Amino acid sequence: MTNPPSSASGSHSETAATADGSQNQVPWWRRAITYQVYIRSFADSNGDGTGDVNGLRSKLPYLRDLGVDAIWINPWYASPLADGGYDVADYRNIAEQYGTLADAEALISEAHDHGIKVIVDVVPNHTSEQHAWFVEAKSSPPGHPSRNRYHIRPGQGADSEQPPTNWTSVFGGPAWTRLPDGEWYLHLFAPEQPDMNWEHPEVRQEFLDVLTFWLDRGADGFRVDVAHGIVKDMTFPDMAETTEVLVSNTYDNHPHWDRDGIHEIIRTWRSLLNTYDGDRMMVAEAWVRPERLPLYLRPDEYHQSFNFDLLEAEWSAGVFSTIIDKAVAAAADVGSTPTWVLSNHDVMREATRYGLPAGTDWRRWPATGPAEDLNVGLGQRRARAAALVVLGLPGSTYVYQGEELGLPEAWDLPEEVLDDPVWERSNHTQKGRDGCRVPIPWAKDGPSLGFGDGDPWLPQPAGWSGFSAEAQAGQPDSTLELYRRAIALRRTLGAADEDLELLDPTQHGLNEAESAEVLMYRRGSGLTCMVNFGSAPVTVPASTETELVRSGGIAGTPLDPDTAVWFTA
Ligand code: GLC
Repeated sequence: MTNPPSSASGSHSETAATADGSQNQVPWWRRAITYQVYIRSFADSNGDGTGDVNGLRSKLPYLRDLGVDAIWINPWYASPLADGGYDVADYRNIAEQYGTLADAEALISEAHDHGIKVIVDVVPNHTSEQHAWFVEAKSSPPGHPSRNRYHIRPGQGADSEQPPTNWTSVFGGPAWTRLPDGEWYLHLFAPEQPDMNWEHPEVRQEFLDVLTFWLDRGADGFRVDVAHGIVKDMTFPDMAETTEVLVSNTYDNHPHWDRDGIHEIIRTWRSLLNTYDGDRMMVAEAWVRPERLPLYLRPDEYHQSFNFDLLEAEWSAGVFSTIIDKAVAAAADVGSTPTWVLSNHDVMREATRYGLPAGTDWRRWPATGPAEDLNVGLGQRRARAAALVVLGLPGSTYVYQGEELGLPEAWDLPEEVLDDPVWERSNHTQKGRDGCRVPIPWAKDGPSLGFGDGDPWLPQPAGWSGFSAEAQAGQPDSTLELYRRAIALRRTLGAADEDLELLDPTQHGLNEAESAEVLMYRRGSGLTCMVNFGSAPVTVPASTETELVRSGGIAGTPLDPDTAVWFTA
């Protein structure tokens, strides 16, 4: 294997002083701001209404100026896009709509020139039904070896007319689909996404080869999709309770989530990464019980795993503090650093989520529009405050495209444009995830607000001109400028250490009642973050001179409800 020239091009790489005064190079991912690019909706260079690699290349200066350390690109491989690209037909090529392999190579190299690392999304649990392996399996008779790369089995009943198990798909409906010859294949997601059989040596080898392919092209890391799902109980038992969810939470010895056999596979990936220079990394999308997560983060497994607790948290000082405390401790226990995620391409955007009445279940992608009492201003204020929370914390923060513009969920997409398989699979009871995937508004004017020259694949809601990057750039009170300022400050002040202390606000001039509604933490560098989750303003224990940035209101005055401030102390 030939290693490419070092991709450790990060102009942002830092050294940290250790207790004995020596300098240690800190792996970049331990404290990176990683910007998630949903490529289909980021920037369209050729006017076909779909984002593409060259569109992303054109926005690299924007990302550099935003100050991010890395980008994570959602799957960009050849795909019929039955699940937005998480149905991969060829892991070594780029989707036609997105460009060419040469474009992708140019993107990686240009990102490196800007000091930005590139994390590629890999999908090991399933392929597309159009992947050559599945095409072969489907057209071969029962018993043919090509079928063993997937979970293709006879069903139950005399004529095999019942599926092999009662498992359900995460997207709704049964997890098995019948082939014309009577056998059934497993798909934990859409029928267009057959699950691979990871007991098969060719599957294991193929995936190592795919990782090698992208490592050789300079990929700095991998986001591993459904990392907790690849190994199945090969006795295929029925489940006592079936739920269409991605988590193993309440089920012991779950037949397809979080099985022990996963770990020996992860170790082979890690060994491969370790043969490359430049701190190549892997981050797991693993929806597992909190006590099981450290297993994925052992020194010879993943470098990081997404922590979705804040993303799922209600707006509460106590809940936020507890999550932060636990996450920092858990990461330290395994020698990793915590990750912070407020949203991604699978969930309702936080600027909307935080404006819903407390207790609203937004997780199942509801089919109905916003509750009449959706409070838009409130959601936006809280989202800005939450940004200062996660940008100030030690560890790695993931920012989903559009978060930095304060984009809300596009609730009211017309039914005829909905593309997420969840919409059909749920019999139109769940609208799906398209509302957080609407193309980015870059400019104040133009047919798709600067996204591209054609009609965007999902329409942008009326009124999004004001959210555009152009409208916000240079406006001191805009969300974009808030992100830019906070990320720049983080770099100079906060990022160089991994220390965090949760502060007791009663020790900083607040009374008991106020303190219960306030989150306060301090970093080793002195950067202090204070957030008011309550309903009345609270005093900030800082002078106007030591205040660095706030998410709303006026420096030097009491901190408004649903607002955060950073100061040095
Ligand atoms: C992950 C992705 C999601 C996708 C699913 C199936 O959860 O984040 O978008 O639909 O896996 O690949």
